[in-house]
Amino acid sequence: MSPFFLFFFLLSNFPPPSFSQNLSSFSSSDSTWTPTQNKQLLSPNSLFAAGFQPDPTFPNRFTFSIWYLNISQTTVVWSANDPNHPLSSTASLLISATGQLRLVNDSTSGSNLWPGTPSSNTNASKLVLQDNGNLVYDKWESFDFPTDTILPNQTITADTKLVSRNGKFSFLNASVLVFLSLNDSYWSSDYAIQVLDEEGKLEKVNQATAFSADFGETRLRRLKLDDDGNLRIYSFDQSQWTTVWQAVQEFCTIHGVCGENAICLNDAAAGSDNFSCVCPPGFKNSSSQSCERKIQLENPGNTKFLPLDYVNFSGGSNQTSLKIANFSLCESTCRQNPKCLGFGFKYDGKGYCVIQDKLLNGYWSPGTEMTFFLRVDKSESEVSNFTGMTSLLETTCPVKITLPPPPKDSNSTTRNIIIVCTLFAAELISGALFFWAFLKRYIKYRDMARTLGLELLPAGGPKRFTYAELNAATNGFSNLIGKGGFGDVYKGQLPDHRVVAVKRLSHVTGGDAQFWAEVTIIARMHHLNLVRLWGFCAEKGQRILVYEYVPNGSLDKYLFRVGQIESSKPGMELDPSVDDQEKPILDWNIRYRIALGVARAIAYLHEECLEWVLHCDIKPENILLGDDFCPKISDFGLAKLRKKEHMVSMSRIRGTRGYMAPEWVKSDPITPKADVYSFGMVLLEIVSGTRNYEMRGSKINSEEWYFPMWAFEKVFKEMKVEDILDRHIKNSYDCRMHFDMVDRMVKTAMWCLQDRPENRPSMGKAAKMLEGTVEIMEPKKPTIFFLEEE
Ligand SMILES: *[C@@H]1O[C@H](CO)[C@@H](O)[C@H](O)[C@H]1NC(C)=O
Ligand SMILES: *[C@@H]1O[C@H](CO)[C@@H](O)[C@H](O)[C@H]1NC(C)=O
Ligand SMILES: *[C@@H]1O[C@H](CO)[C@@H](O)[C@H](O)[C@H]1NC(C)=O
Ligand SMILES: *[C@@H]1O[C@H](CO)[C@@H](O)[C@H](O)[C@H]1NC(C)=O
Ligand SMILES: *[C@@H]1O[C@H](CO)[C@@H](O)[C@H](O)[C@H]1NC(C)=O
Ligand SMILES: *[C@@H]1O[C@H](CO)[C@@H](O)[C@H](O)[C@H]1NC(C)=O
Repeated sequence: MSPFFLFFFLLSNFPPPSFSQNLSSFSSSDSTWTPTQNKQLLSPNSLFAAGFQPDPTFPNRFTFSIWYLNISQTTVVWSANDPNHPLSSTASLLISATGQLRLVNDSTSGSNLWPGTPSSNTNASKLVLQDNGNLVYDKWESFDFPTDTILPNQTITADTKLVSRNGKFSFLNASVLVFLSLNDSYWSSDYAIQVLDEEGKLEKVNQATAFSADFGETRLRRLKLDDDGNLRIYSFDQSQWTTVWQAVQEFCTIHGVCGENAICLNDAAAGSDNFSCVCPPGFKNSSSQSCERKIQLENPGNTKFLPLDYVNFSGGSNQTSLKIANFSLCESTCRQNPKCLGFGFKYDGKGYCVIQDKLLNGYWSPGTEMTFFLRVDKSESEVSNFTGMTSLLETTCPVKITLPPPPKDSNSTTRNIIIVCTLFAAELISGALFFWAFLKRYIKYRDMARTLGLELLPAGGPKRFTYAELNAATNGFSNLIGKGGFGDVYKGQLPDHRVVAVKRLSHVTGGDAQFWAEVTIIARMHHLNLVRLWGFCAEKGQRILVYEYVPNGSLDKYLFRVGQIESSKPGMELDPSVDDQEKPILDWNIRYRIALGVARAIAYLHEECLEWVLHCDIKPENILLGDDFCPKISDFGLAKLRKKEHMVSMSRIRGTRGYMAPEWVKSDPITPKADVYSFGMVLLEIVSGTRNYEMRGSKINSEEWYFPMWAFEKVFKEMKVEDILDRHIKNSYDCRMHFDMVDRMVKTAMWCLQDRPENRPSMGKAAKMLEGTVEIMEPKKPTIFFLEEE
C-alpha cells in the first residue's frame, strides 16, 4: 500500500472525539463557541452532528465539520474550513451584532473563514443542523457549499464543485472529473448528475439514471470524491461503509495516479489501492511514481521504437488522431518529428495514430486496444515486456485460407432437380424475380442494421462490470434461462434498462488479464448476425460475459418440434416459460434468411475479422433468433479460451457428435473447414426439420445411418427433393417460389459436408453459393463417416 493511501486510510478511520454538550441550535444569544468547549450541534433525528472536529494526528488543530453521529468511525461529510489549513484551539464561531456568522482563527478578530459569508437581518436567526445533514443559517445552507461529499437529496447543479480532500481532484459541471494540477479531465458522465436518493439511485438529466449495486435498500449513503480521484457512492451496511458505485471503472485511467513516463498497472480484482507505477523498458525510477530515461534521446535519427501492447500515454500537445491507417506512415510521422517521444497505434484499420511529445498518464489496459510505440535510443538493449496483443494476433490469425474451387466433375450428370420443375419454366422466372427482390431487400436491411450496430459501439471496448453490479442486474442470478457448454446463462436487466443474458463461464483457463484481453477481441466482433457482447466481469475467480438478450430463443426449438425428439440437451438462452408448442413454424423465406445470416456471420468470423476466429461449436442451439427471426450466433470466440483437447471431449460429452467434422476425431488439424462442415449439417437440418442423428423414413439400421448421404441419395439419385423437406411445411413448398432457394441450400450443404476439408468451400464461398452470386457445381456424394468411440 502506498504512503498516500495509508494517509487516506488513517484520515477516514479515526475514532470519534467525545463531546460533553449537545446543542439543538446556535444563535447570537449563545456565547462564542470555541474548540475546547466540547460542544456539538445535533440534527433533530440525531443522525448528524456539527462542531469543531480535532485533527486525528494533531489534537490541537481543528476543522469545523459535519459528521455522522452514531457511526463508530468518524465520517466527515462537510467542512467549513479547508482541513489542510486547520484552525488553532483559539478559534471561535460566533454571530456578530450585525447578524453575520463568523468563523475566525484567533479570538474574535481576523478574516471570516466560513464559506459564503452568511448573514441575517434579524437577530432571531439560528444555526441549525437539519435531519438530512444540511447546516442552515437564515438563507445560507451548507448544501450549497459542498466540500467532497454529496448527501442524499442534496441537489447537484452545474455550479456545484467538489474537491477531493487532498486538493488534487475536482468534480465539475455535475459531470466531469478533473486532475487539477494539469487541468485535464479523465472521466465524464453521459448526462449531468442531479441527485442521489436514499435507495441508491443517481438521477441525471434527461431522465437518465445510474444505480448502485445495492439499489432498493434504504441505507445511509453518500457520494464522495475520494483522494484517489474516483467518485464513489458508499452505503452503510451494518457496520461499515461499502462502495456500491464508482465513476471510474479502470482505476489507472485516472490522471496523475503515476508520474511522468511511468505506466500504471492495476489488478481491478484486487481493489483500487492495488496498483503500481512501473517504468517502460529503457527507463528507471526517478521517484516512487515517476521514471526517467537511462539513455537520453540525443540524435533523433538514431532511434528505434519498442512496442508496448495495451499501453496508453497521453498528455502530449495534440491528442488528435492523425487517421493514418498505415502503420509505417504513422511511424515515419513520429520519426520525422524530433519532439516525438512515441506514438499510439491501433490495428483496427481505422487509422488511430496519436503522436506524443509528453509521456503522461501512462496506463496498461486491454481496453485501450492499442499499442504504444516508445521511442528509445538505438543502442537500448532492453526489450518490452508489455506483450500480448501481437502474440494474440499470431496465435489466432494463422495463414488465411485460400480455397481451391470445388473440383469440376468432368462427366457431371444433367440429372439435376431442375428437371422436376421444368414444367413450371415460365413461373420459374417469376419465382426468380421474387427471389432477387427478396434478396435485395434483405441485403439492404442487413447493411442498414450493420451500420446502426456500429454506431452503438461502446467507446473503449467492452464494459467491465463488477460482480456486485451483475448480481444486482440478475437479481442474485435467479433467472436461469439456459445451460450451455460454457456455463449457465441468466436473464437480467442493466440499470439503463437493457435486457441482457449473463453467462457465467466455467472451466476457463488463463489469468484475469488474459481473459480481459480475449474478451476485448470478442467484443470487437460486430455483425448483425452475431450476438453482441456488451461487457464482462473478471473478479475473484469469476468469469462472466454480458450479452445482448435475444428474445426468440434458439433455432433448435423451432426446427425440432416437441414430440419429434426428446429434449435431451438443455437449450441455450431459451426462456423456459415460452412453450415450444406455441412456436411458429418457420417458412421457407425465413429459413433461407437464417441460413444466409449464419453463413455470413461465420464468414465474418473466419475472414473479415482482424483476428481470425473459429467457432468450433456450430449447431442450432447456438443460433439464436432475434426480432424478425434475424439469426444471431452465440458462443463465438469462446473456443479460444479452452484447449483443443478440452473442446473435443467437451463436444463429445455434450452430444454434438452430429455436427463435428471428421477431423475432430482423426487427429487432423482443425481449420475453418471444421466450422464449414458443422454449418452444412445445420443447413440440412434447416431444410429437413430433422435432427441429423434422428433417422427418418429409413429402414437402414442405425449403425449405417448417415444423414448427409441419405439426403444426397434422395435429392440427387432418387430426385425426390420433397422427401427430405420438413414435414411441417412441406405442403407450403411451392416449386415455383421456393425451388431456387431450397436447391441452393441443399447443394451448398452437400459441398460443406464433404469428408475431406479441402473439398469443402470456405465459409465466404458458401455464403455466396447461398446468395446465388456464384454458380454451384453438382456436389459429390458425402462419404459415410462414423464417430469412433475414442
Ligand atoms: C443512528 O441513530 C438514529 C437515531 O437514533 C437511528 O435512527 C439510526 O438508525 C442510527 N443509525 C445507525 C447507522 O446506527
Ligand atoms: C490558525 O492559526 C494557527 C496558529 O497561528 C496557524 O498555524 C494556522 O495556519 C491558522 N489557520 C488558518 C486557517 O489560518
Ligand atoms: C435584536 O437586537 C436588538 C438590538 O440589539 C434588540 O433591541 C432586540 O431586542 C433584539 N431582538 C431579539 C428578538 O432578540
Ligand atoms: C492537431 O493535429 C490535427 C491533425 O494533424 C490538426 O488538424 C489540429 O489542428 C492539431 N491541433 C492543434 C491544437 O495543434
Ligand atoms: C488514451 O488516454 C487518453 C487520455 O486518458 C484518452 O482520451 C484516449 O481515448 C485513450 N486512448 C485509447 C485508445 O484508449
Ligand atoms: C515489466 O517489467 C517490470 C520490471 O521488471 C515489472 O515491474 C513490470 O511488472 C513488467 N510488466 C509487465 C506487463 O509484466
